[in-house]
Amino acid sequence: MIDISVNFAGIKAPNPFWLASAPPTNSGYQIMKAFDAGWGGAVWKTLGLPTINVSSRYGSINYRDTRMAGFSNIELISDRPLEDNLREMQEVKKYYPNHAVIASLMVDTRQEWETIIKEVQDAGADGIELNFGCPHGMCERGMGSAVGQEPEVLKTIVGWVMAAAKIPVITKLSPNISHITDPGLAAVQGGTNAISLINTVKSIVGIDLDTFAPYPIVDGSGTNGGYCGPAVKPIALHMLKELAQHRQINKVPICGIGGIETWRDVVEFILLGATSVQVCTAVMHYGFGIVREMEAGLKGFMEQRSFDTIYDFAGRALPKVTEWKNLNLKYSVKANIDREKCIGCQLCYIACDDGAHQAIKLSENSEDRIPSVIEDNCVGCNLCSLVCPVENCISMQRKDDKSEHLTWDMLTQKNEIPNTFNDERAGGKGHHVPSVEEAWNKRENI
Ligand SMILES: Cc1cc2nc3c(=O)[nH]c(=O)nc-3n(C[C@H](O)[C@H](O)[C@H](O)COP(=O)(O)O)c2cc1C
Ligand code: SF4
Ligand code: SF4
Repeated sequence: MIDISVNFAGIKAPNPFWLASAPPTNSGYQIMKAFDAGWGGAVWKTLGLPTINVSSRYGSINYRDTRMAGFSNIELISDRPLEDNLREMQEVKKYYPNHAVIASLMVDTRQEWETIIKEVQDAGADGIELNFGCPHGMCERGMGSAVGQEPEVLKTIVGWVMAAAKIPVITKLSPNISHITDPGLAAVQGGTNAISLINTVKSIVGIDLDTFAPYPIVDGSGTNGGYCGPAVKPIALHMLKELAQHRQINKVPICGIGGIETWRDVVEFILLGATSVQVCTAVMHYGFGIVREMEAGLKGFMEQRSFDTIYDFAGRALPKVTEWKNLNLKYSVKANIDREKCIGCQLCYIACDDGAHQAIKLSENSEDRIPSVIEDNCVGCNLCSLVCPVENCISMQRKDDKSEHLTWDMLTQKNEIPNTFNDERAGGKGHHVPSVEEAWNKRENI
């Protein structure tokens, strides 16, 4: 019997799908609508000090046919009256006692933290999330990512919060830092019950070529925004993995955020150690209804793999994520083109000849547009299979006999790493490279 309910640091929810603190959680109306659609939890739009928002607020990267492949905002925390938010929070909890309602908070002084924590607890919040991530506006006032980028300050504030809070506390981290484990560890040392990540990535999504102002434009100028949406998922997955593999940090549960749109994204975050997830951009793009596909997909995956709960597979990808030095240098794959599937577009030839290793050749018969792989030249980089527009037309096939396992680390220990470029053991030595004359001759043919 599949059970996707979660108990995240003591916060219980019918499923791991939560809304991230953002416009979709700006009001009780929206959160109730989201719970009806199937979301198991919601992190309320950050509450804190009075703010004023600007218009416009959002920008995006539209990549080819995909709108909002990356999304940027310069919005601040909630600008609605705190009393209205607290009253609505209480009402939502009354109607949905079994769903998770988490209050995201961002204030400045210790006294302000103590006061607002008491207020949201009195309103019935199931947990608190500390917003140490906002990379615009609030950080200029010493809050948001200004805290997330200073582990010692973060630890102090988490300590204040832990001393005051009676409900579970999630520390939400900023990705705008070199080593995410620094603030992650600081949060755990400060006593946090859980971590969530990522907040938005400091960014400029584009420049208007008429006015030279960055998007989103506010009366002729702009400022850096916070980047999110599908484009940031790889950054989020990496940072999640960094925390989930860290022995001191992974004592607390981690909520994964960043670019989640489908059930596959959810499963990937769980496989890397998250035990709940939060979504913002995908809901702003497609609405609350996307949770239905997420739930059906997650359950289908669990059924197929015979997992009863998400805890049965949480973190299962972590042992597979290692350091480069531990990868098998003897593993060898080569590209193979399926002549039946090939449509003769020759994109693979162009990519390999101009951007990789000159391992794909065109037929001498100009009627035959299907290229072929020169196996000896192929280094197995994958590029052709990534550019090929036909699914499974180029496959990477294993060519080594699986008998050897040799890593850079093993070579280092045996003192056998190449120490000159001429060394027979050096990687590129012996790889085919066309002569410069070949380029010259092609030029003469132009
Ligand atoms: C318009 C907008 C407003 C946001 N406001 C907040 C906020 O008030 N508090 C907060 O912690 N995060 C805020 N975020 C960040 C999201 O909660 C989330 O961390 C980020 O968008 C990454 O998730 P996504 O890729 O699913 O959008 C905001 C994001 C957007 C796009
Ligand atoms: S990119 Fe794919 S479809 Fe196009 S020529 Fe190469 S193998 Fe064929
Ligand atoms: S895998 Fe890389 S080197 Fe091999 S044919 Fe494809 S692009 Fe060229």
